[in-house]
Amino acid sequence: MLQGKKFILGISGGIAAYKCAQLTRLLVKEGAEVQVIMTKLAKQFITPLTMATLSKRPILVEFFDPENGAWNSHVDSGLWADAMIVAPATANTMGKMANGIADNLLITTYLSARCPVFVAPTMDLDMYQHPSTQRNMDTLRSYGNHLIEPNAGELASGLIGKGRMAEPEEIVSQLKEFFVRREKQDLTGKNILVTAGPTHEKIDPVRFIGNYSSGKMGYALAEELASRGARVTLVSGPAQIKTCHPNIERIDVVSAEEMSYESRSRFSQMNAAIMCAAVADYTPLVKANEKIKRKEDELSVKLKATTDIAASLGKDKSDKQVLVGFALETQDAMANAQKKLEKKNLDFIVLNSLKDEGAGFNSDTNKITIINKHNKVKEFALKSKTDVAVDVVDELVECFFNIGG
Ligand code: PMT
Repeated sequence: MLQGKKFILGISGGIAAYKCAQLTRLLVKEGAEVQVIMTKLAKQFITPLTMATLSKRPILVEFFDPENGAWNSHVDSGLWADAMIVAPATANTMGKMANGIADNLLITTYLSARCPVFVAPTMDLDMYQHPSTQRNMDTLRSYGNHLIEPNAGELASGLIGKGRMAEPEEIVSQLKEFFVRREKQDLTGKNILVTAGPTHEKIDPVRFIGNYSSGKMGYALAEELASRGARVTLVSGPAQIKTCHPNIERIDVVSAEEMSYESRSRFSQMNAAIMCAAVADYTPLVKANEKIKRKEDELSVKLKATTDIAASLGKDKSDKQVLVGFALETQDAMANAQKKLEKKNLDFIVLNSLKDEGAGFNSDTNKITIINKHNKVKEFALKSKTDVAVDVVDELVECFFNIGG
């Protein structure tokens, strides 16, 4: 699968740099070409000679060769590669990548790269958990980069926790999976609607009723569908995530009513819809034009039910369309999900429960159970939302196959 693929391996200065020798060896063994770019500090952790010998190419560090002035073009390297891997990605390098601080060849190449970029973080426990590191990783994800989760275990400092760079075998296997999926293009010609994020229901000019949805799950689905060839219409409530895939048309909405209008008016042109948004079930009956002043000890805001978008699409759905819903539960998860599956006329429902740690709102991970309309149940382990999206889209592809679509 990696035969003939061209990789830039960007090595930054962390102890896990030693694993890059094995990573390069594995990639070359698969028939891939590897161009190594190292930061100056990375050379302290693994020698250029080792990396040049294993990759069978001179490694690049500087913008130009001081001996003869030969220019190492980051633009050419960025265009040459089928994928760039930044491993190990230190807190410093990820911070620069997230903020466009182009002070070394690795970063300028990253900024010029048009290919997919894989980032394998490594660092000590507290550095990894620091809000700035987590924010930078979120930013990198939002740019469409693929973060390869570090493993938990004993760290170089002796502390125990998350921060060990993924093993070379794991990185190679993720690269293979990526190219298998991308080359499958099994959704070419399909139009798919995805709803994502929260809705905000206006109370008055300064307040709204909302929820904790970040949009991460829905955006991961949109990216996965697009990378497999689908034309995606992403109807998104307020979310701080960027989309960059050319196959994704994004429509920003605020309220449940707007989301309902944009989804329902497009559904007839869709082959499928995945309803991942956390839509408000109720909205204020009256939206005040002026800020509501504090007066009494108690205040009541009368609410009315919103349109159940999934249920209304379920009513209009033809035999050739696939409708997928999500169920976010806190109790009686299976029973409630099954009720929603039937009531909304879904082909399958993706259950995530807030009782499972790392599942549901805002986290980068999720743990799902898929229940289809024939009551077949598939349980999945806790995974990154990117990987969860793969499982959901695989199930969708199976539905298309079953309806001959
Ligand atoms: O955005 P993240 O932070 O990544 O979090 C992801 C998520 C937890 C929001 C997502 O995985 C999820 O569970 N989305 C559905 C949330 C929800 O509203 O679930 P529900 O059980 O209340 O609704 C059932 C289904 O009906 C959902 O498909 C929902 O989109 C749909 N619905 C609900 C109400 C409504 N008025 N219209 C709808 O279409």
